[in-house]
Amino acid sequence: MPFHLPAELAQQPTPFYYYDLPLLDQTLAALTAAARPGNFQVHYALKANSNLPILQRIRAAGLGADCVSGGEVQRALEAGFAPDHVVFAGVGKSDAEINRALAADIFCFNAESVPELRVLNELAAAQGRVARVALRINPNVDAHTHAYITTGLEANKFGISLQDLAGVIDSLDGLPHVELIGLHAHIGSQITNLTVFAALSRKLNELQTWLEGRGHQLPHLNVGGGLGIDYHTPDEQLIPDFAAYFGMFEQHLQRRPGQQVHVELGRAVVAQCGTLVSRVLYVKESQQVRFAILDAGMTELIRPALYGSHHHIQNLSSQGPELPYDVVGPICESSDTFAKGVLLPETRRGDLVAIRSAGAYGEVMASGYNLREKAPAVYR
Ligand code: LLP
Repeated sequence: MPFHLPAELAQQPTPFYYYDLPLLDQTLAALTAAARPGNFQVHYALKANSNLPILQRIRAAGLGADCVSGGEVQRALEAGFAPDHVVFAGVGKSDAEINRALAADIFCFNAESVPELRVLNELAAAQGRVARVALRINPNVDAHTHAYITTGLEANKFGISLQDLAGVIDSLDGLPHVELIGLHAHIGSQITNLTVFAALSRKLNELQTWLEGRGHQLPHLNVGGGLGIDYHTPDEQLIPDFAAYFGMFEQHLQRRPGQQVHVELGRAVVAQCGTLVSRVLYVKESQQVRFAILDAGMTELIRPALYGSHHHIQNLSSQGPELPYDVVGPICESSDTFAKGVLLPETRRGDLVAIRSAGAYGEVMASGYNLREKAPAVYR
């Protein structure tokens, strides 16, 4: 289906984020069907988009919440996620954040180091609780994605190196307020070559066998998130191929009887339902380049400036002949560029422009640089 902005929103002051809630619901229906209830537990990664109306729909679809800060844990609980459907990950959890999550009795902490386990033990003891923990391992599997969003390599700051795992597990003997319930891994984001999930599965299989040899049977495996979306042809590929993603784990991960497998998807759930809507302020023709200068910039959507990411751009107002444009924002940085040399129908001041597939890591990464006001969200 081609993109369509509800007519009443054409008068809305720009820039704004428009969320297509029926599309979110369709995505959730496809996801939950592919995960087959009981087969995979899906925790939505709030970091991708933590707006309440979106979270409430995700919760209503039966997903849990994957959080990376005390603020996200709080938001998940406000949105109605049951504490036993909340996991808390992150390489640098503060004492205050851990205390808040312990007090809420969340399902699991994904822990990344011995110092963190010691703090978890101490804080849980002080509250008279036991913290359930999955150890985040660094599987050293290359996700073949952008370097900034690769997380499962030895050189990345995340997780416990496989060489260190035996020592970490031994350290648990002295930590009675920590209960090891699983393993966790997350190798990166915007993964489109799904074979890397087979490599991750094989690594987890080896580890499980090794752990069982040491007397540890773990009831939970969390394979992280990372399923990518098609940013290039959003009209044809609005709903990611969840069946192919789960199929990789069904085929390659050796699940033990009764073991629960968890995933933490963010982008694939919400990217396609969000669009950044902006207006052309000026068309400026320099000697070499024709610029379309928008009223949205890297303060609303930083992904192109930060990662060189592609977002499909559509002029919703013009049917004219196509011309090449550099589509830029108003911010005082040359990197404030959405696209270079993109073909758009002849563009004029006042035209409405849609920047597609912006529902994930869009609004949540907005900043107030240049004292910009936060763009509002509208839901239909
Ligand atoms: N679990 C963990 C431990 C993570 O670090 C992440 C994402 C996820 C799950 C969710 O991954 P997803 O399914 O969304 O790929 N700002 C970047 C993406 C950063 C991803 C960080 N971690 C971007 O705009 O592309």
